[in-house]
Amino acid sequence: MTSSHHHDHDHTHGAAVPDFFAEMLDLDVAVLHEYHAELLSWLASLAGPVHHILDIGAGTGTGSLGLARRFSEAEVVALDLSAELLARLSDRAAGAGLGERIRVVAADLDAGWPAEPEAFDLAWASASMHHLADPDAVIAGVLGSLRPGGLFAIVELSGFPRFLPARPGAGLSAPAALSPAALEERLHAAVAERHARDLPHLGDDWGSRLAKAGFTVEATRQFDIHLTAPLPAATGRYAQVSLQRLAGGLREQLSSEEIAALHALTGDEILHRDDLEVRASRTTWIGRRP
Ligand SMILES: C[S@@+](CC[C@H](N)C(=O)[O-])C[C@H]1O[C@@H](n2cnc3c(N)ncnc32)[C@H](O)[C@@H]1O
Repeated sequence: MTSSHHHDHDHTHGAAVPDFFAEMLDLDVAVLHEYHAELLSWLASLAGPVHHILDIGAGTGTGSLGLARRFSEAEVVALDLSAELLARLSDRAAGAGLGERIRVVAADLDAGWPAEPEAFDLAWASASMHHLADPDAVIAGVLGSLRPGGLFAIVELSGFPRFLPARPGAGLSAPAALSPAALEERLHAAVAERHARDLPHLGDDWGSRLAKAGFTVEATRQFDIHLTAPLPAATGRYAQVSLQRLAGGLREQLSSEEIAALHALTGDEILHRDDLEVRASRTTWIGRRP
């Protein structure tokens, strides 16, 4: 199951995956490890015996590694379009002693559903379904690849995490419009505009799509995350990389004052701010193959 077909509807595709993208995926699990652990425990409580797992749009392997650890008997197929991200995933898996149980597969799901010999007990797609050109075709492919009773977990983010304190009074030293929290909101608004144009499936009701394909929708669960100090050590770096990445992609939508203020905000001082928070919301839909 390989495909050399590459296309370009998403900046994460192709050979040149920016390094900070991979770092962001790794930082997410470092900072939100409690959420990730809770999600996997919940999934395990619903899943029954799990020997074969498919991770769809595996990226740097946050899901693949977590799943391999949680389901200690299972083999994981980590599928992604990006050979570069998969190389990073393989290195991490080997470093974690999980290399024997995680196999990477480079494939573009927009080019069709790949043939895999196993029947999977569990399929997992975290923050990847909204990238697909035809998610219904992929959901149908997953249904056909699961054993009866097997689960498909779709995880989606309702946005990038927010880091700057939103409480009244925060950031009073800056003019109101350019307070750190206001700048962060400005970035989120600009990125939402761009996503509405470029990622039409973002924010879809994945439960309806699962049901329409023939899955029984077993559960839907929203996790509302709000972390405050003391925060995991990687939080400052996660805030810095996220804000820089958001700002970098939005230069044309921001004023020169906003760009200058963001530049100042995302310097290395952010690594040592003691007022950071992490606010995020994520939803998981679980479908069972009848
Ligand atoms: C936001 S990342 C999520 C990565 C990982 N699941 C996680 O939660 O950290 C989305 C991933 O989907 C992959 N992807 C996007 N479109 C794809 C396609 N058509 N076929 C296969 N993978 C795709 C991207 O290469 C990227 O690694």
